[in-house]
Amino acid sequence: MGESWEHEEVVTRLGRRSGVPVTVAVHSRRLGPAAGGIRLRQYATWQDGLADALRLARGMTYKNAVAGLAFGGGKTVIAVPSGVALTPALRADALADAGDLIASFEGSYLAGPDIGTGQEDMLYLRSFTDHVFCLPEAHGGTGSSSGPTARGVLAAVRAGMSSVFGTSTVAGRRVVVVGMGSVGTLLARDLSAQGASVVVADVDETRCAGYEQVAVADAYSLPADVLVPAAVGGVIGEGVRAPLVVGPANNQLVSDDVAASLNASGVVWVPDFVASAGGVVYTLGREASGLDHDAAMAQVETIEETVTTLLAASAAHGATPLAEALALAERRLAPAPSRV
Ligand code: PHE
Repeated sequence: MGESWEHEEVVTRLGRRSGVPVTVAVHSRRLGPAAGGIRLRQYATWQDGLADALRLARGMTYKNAVAGLAFGGGKTVIAVPSGVALTPALRADALADAGDLIASFEGSYLAGPDIGTGQEDMLYLRSFTDHVFCLPEAHGGTGSSSGPTARGVLAAVRAGMSSVFGTSTVAGRRVVVVGMGSVGTLLARDLSAQGASVVVADVDETRCAGYEQVAVADAYSLPADVLVPAAVGGVIGEGVRAPLVVGPANNQLVSDDVAASLNASGVVWVPDFVASAGGVVYTLGREASGLDHDAAMAQVETIEETVTTLLAASAAHGATPLAEALALAERRLAPAPSRV
């Protein structure tokens, strides 16, 4: 991937209402219109927001390709400057600015929710563009994508458990969930219900109520059976002590090189863009491809099979699961061979 230009289209615009820099990054439309969520959070500089958009958009290309979707990858980042108070008025203006920018892509980029945005925001965005998914059910959408995302992660966890421990059940296992946002909360709840001993961490300690809690700084290196990254990315480097890492956070690794060092130290890392596909698979399945709930959920459950296949290939070839997943994505993204 290197330093060379690889994104098809990237626009950063200072919002005319909010003064907040908004980026829409379209990484690839080879398989269809780019699809990816809208991240709204604070960044130290607009360049940090842009860099995040570029990484996240690329991740969506791989996520959608590996999931077998006829969509490319893109992402929106609304980069509220850290230090500026995120008031409801500023938030609404920044969303409106993002809506105008998304509209300018005329359907070649389709937006959904991500960290910092939800179904009510998608409804609000509809006043500016048709090309948003996950509106509330009362408005004809499929609502929050967090439930299907969590379902997909649980499918990936089962495959990872089978590969690492020889059994897919988490009962009696110590599982660390880092990030108690909309998906992490569901995972902590479901994993405990399945008999796992769940430890949680979040920068906002009030979200950890009801669980054994550790500091975020300690969570990634805690001795445990499974580590579930469910917050922002760029967090997994050296020092992981769980033999299985699988979760919904996008861009989990500090750098792609970490995949090799994890593998060498016997840690199985399920690529984030494989484990986290449940939300897009379900939402696009229902809202773009007309599947009913059961059919779309069945599609989400196939993540278990995908992860099983990738981990088996990784073991057989001595390659990292990341390399296997990227190779699968690249095969799907490869242009049809020329006939001349
Ligand atoms: N936040 C989702 C992801 O990272 C993006 C998304 C969800 C896009 C639902 C469209 C619909 O995969």
